[in-house]
Amino acid sequence: MSQIKSAPVEHGFGVTDEVVARLEATPDPRLREIMQAAVRHLHAFATEVRLTDEEWFAGIMFLTATGQMCDDVRQEFILLSDTLGLSTLVDAMNHSHVEDLATDSTILGPFYVPESPWREFGESMVEFDCGGEPSILRGRVLDQQGAPIAGAVLDAWQNAANRFYAVQQPDVQPPTNLRGRYRTDADGRYEIRAVRPTDYPIPSDGPVGKLIKETGRHEWRAAHMHLKVSADGYEPLTTHVFDSGSAFLDSDTVFGVKRSLVGDFAMDSEGLRVCEFDFVLARQETSDA
Ligand code: BEZ
Ligand code: FE
Repeated sequence: MSQIKSAPVEHGFGVTDEVVARLEATPDPRLREIMQAAVRHLHAFATEVRLTDEEWFAGIMFLTATGQMCDDVRQEFILLSDTLGLSTLVDAMNHSHVEDLATDSTILGPFYVPESPWREFGESMVEFDCGGEPSILRGRVLDQQGAPIAGAVLDAWQNAANRFYAVQQPDVQPPTNLRGRYRTDADGRYEIRAVRPTDYPIPSDGPVGKLIKETGRHEWRAAHMHLKVSADGYEPLTTHVFDSGSAFLDSDTVFGVKRSLVGDFAMDSEGLRVCEFDFVLARQETSDA
């Protein structure tokens, strides 16, 4: 007579509880909470899909390739987080401005480079001609009562019309092309000269690009300019201004679009594309508030 073992797979053969119990010894309470929840959810995922040996190893190889794709200027794990919607979820949980009138934030993306050159009011960020339509992004930085914030800093960066950021093309574009830091004037005004943003594909030559293709998704980001806006006494804002003419506003591959961040790059009488966009910063909460 064959001996039939009972197989309590729903409970990971008891291993889930055992790992969670062992993690109980973690001195840092937040690390304990995160690790125990991570183990529970990871085991539940493997149980739900009845992960096979081959699939487990394919996952290991995928994560290995993702790490191997990272270097000083390429962060494939952030790209993975972005394409899975995790970056947008974390941003939404930590920077929601639904009730306080401040400008919405969105993801940072992998192409931010600190220490961009300081530029004058209205100066162009174009240092190398890759084509595209000349454009101006201008407006004010305001507090939640509508008062202008003088001396606020806008750190801007965008892709060229050839679809690449300067950091992706060190042999083609100068490293500070289409990047710049601007200050608002006494009336809280800023003006950035650049090129009209274009839709562009996220890097698709790595494991994340392969996964995007295998899951039948497209790789396009909706046209945008990135900005970090900051001022003393206010919460720093990381955001985008999206071009209303983009074909990918409803299907941005990294889930970064918010309707409140869409602006019109309208043609003016001199043939320039001009977008007017005001940013509203939230007051920094003080610890004794
Ligand atoms: C970007 O907007 O630069 C970006 C964001 C997420 C993934 C890839 C690119
Ligand atoms: Fe971008």
